[in-house]
Amino acid sequence: MGSASAAAGASASWTVILTRAAFLALCALAVLPPLAQAKHGGATRHYKFDIKMQNVTRLCQTKSIVTVNGQFPGPRIVAREGDRLLIKVVNHVQYNVTIHWHGVRQLRSGWADGPAYVTQCPIQTGQTYVYNFTVTGQRGTLFWHAHISWLRATVYGPIVILPKKHASYPFPQPFKEVPIVFGEWWKADTETIINQALTTGGAPNLSDAYTMNGFPGPLYNCSAKDTFKLKVKPGKTYLLRLINAALNDELFFSVANHTLSIVEADAVYVKPFKTHTVLITPGQTTNVLLRAKSKAPNATFVMAARPYATGPGAFDNTTVTGFLEYAKPSSPSKPKASKLPILKPTLPKFNDTAFATKFSLKLRSLNTAQFPAKVPRTVDKKFFFTVGLGLNSCPKNQTCQGPNNAMLAASINNVSFVLPTTALLQAHFFKQSKGVYTTDFPANPPFKFNYTGTPLSNIMVTSGTKVAVLPFNTTVELVMQDTSIIGLESHPLHLHGFNFFVVGQGFGNFNPKKDPKNFNLVDPAERNTVSVPSGGWVAIRFLADNPGVWFMHCHLEVHTSWGLKMAWIVMDGKGWKQKLPPPPADLPKC
Ligand code: C2O
Repeated sequence: MGSASAAAGASASWTVILTRAAFLALCALAVLPPLAQAKHGGATRHYKFDIKMQNVTRLCQTKSIVTVNGQFPGPRIVAREGDRLLIKVVNHVQYNVTIHWHGVRQLRSGWADGPAYVTQCPIQTGQTYVYNFTVTGQRGTLFWHAHISWLRATVYGPIVILPKKHASYPFPQPFKEVPIVFGEWWKADTETIINQALTTGGAPNLSDAYTMNGFPGPLYNCSAKDTFKLKVKPGKTYLLRLINAALNDELFFSVANHTLSIVEADAVYVKPFKTHTVLITPGQTTNVLLRAKSKAPNATFVMAARPYATGPGAFDNTTVTGFLEYAKPSSPSKPKASKLPILKPTLPKFNDTAFATKFSLKLRSLNTAQFPAKVPRTVDKKFFFTVGLGLNSCPKNQTCQGPNNAMLAASINNVSFVLPTTALLQAHFFKQSKGVYTTDFPANPPFKFNYTGTPLSNIMVTSGTKVAVLPFNTTVELVMQDTSIIGLESHPLHLHGFNFFVVGQGFGNFNPKKDPKNFNLVDPAERNTVSVPSGGWVAIRFLADNPGVWFMHCHLEVHTSWGLKMAWIVMDGKGWKQKLPPPPADLPKC
């Protein structure tokens, strides 16, 4: 995308609309480097990510942010299914950095997954690491982001996975494809914000704006010139690649007077369905088709996103907007786009859980002969995890800003996860787990209670670096249950290294006798991030066919910071293709 998306050159005139030909040409020129054809038919694509500081102005305030190649949002990675990616990351900033390829399955390439202290030690200032992985069996939209502290606030960008050469989409070929990346913007420095919150035990400051491809839009003060515009031609179909890269907020998205057709989620095709509003949690990606009206209307259409929020805490209750404009043959008699009436969409209320439930139930795997839903029919191991908030005690001689002079925390089965100071994957691979982690992550809550009823009196969490171990090819069923501790809340849980099937969901406490009877084992949604409903539960199944250490956490970054995270260790299988290869020579050291 070159200078078009460079922060310094960003302006309202930036339109990302490219014809398909131009899009591919641009990729070939600016994004796609020379290709080397590999044996398996896929190509090898090289990228270079220079992590550097860049001054960016939003909402009339300039700040220095961490970026990739000075771009905000970061550069687009484009590959075809089956391609190998070699991404050289060079760290020129004062922070430790890692990059995660969110949703990429990383089959036997866990060393390239990216979460700091889980699969790798961070890339330190002045150091370099080459992420080396192949995109297998996935097509659609994913994204990449920094995976250490809160650096992903500004370090993120799209991953576009095109079908194999000569393969087509299972839906009408769009005229153009446009990534729309949602982000969250703070005027203040986000590393300072999270570090302060973690010292005081209180909640971190709320963001000042949401962004659409880096732009907050005209509903914010001093922001009208920073508006994303999508120019369309009458009668054409556009594929919008929606990505929620916001830190802490699920979002509703809608386009005035236009219907969206959902065709893919988390890089898996779904049964197409029409909707006016999309719900997208942090960590989720959704491809939608937007069909432009057959005749250019005399209006400008607002594209808007604002939060779906269920938790007990305050949230950034603002709205990001961009414009959908129809291109017209220039004629002096016709009014200019800026003079046209502006039509706005109606979005669900911020706490519209009924909409959220209906929407998630509509998502179904395409499940055709070509794209089957390989739902595990039998289950080797069952897990039941409570997810939610809690408290840690305040250090002696300190006052804390959480409830009851304690510190806010979050946990899974009451374990608030503590990252080690070396990486889990190295410790596992070299059999040096002693003093790094223990393998006693509880498969069930430490005690039973009415999870969604009146909160307990003791809501203190325990802390530890505990992992759950799975033999190779275990079929896993995991039920995740929200709790009322501190407050009911929807939690978008993300699993690294796998896609899972969302076989069931419901409200209240999960009933192991009754609820499994209603599981969908035919065409459930297959994804990498799913919301545990506020005051409810979700059941997922996956096949542990990828050896390595795999992080699982709430993709609300503040909850991850508070400890709502854990890791799975999937052991090697017997066959040589079932083992994790040794680490690359340039793997960073702690
Ligand atoms: Cu998108 Cu562990 O992250």
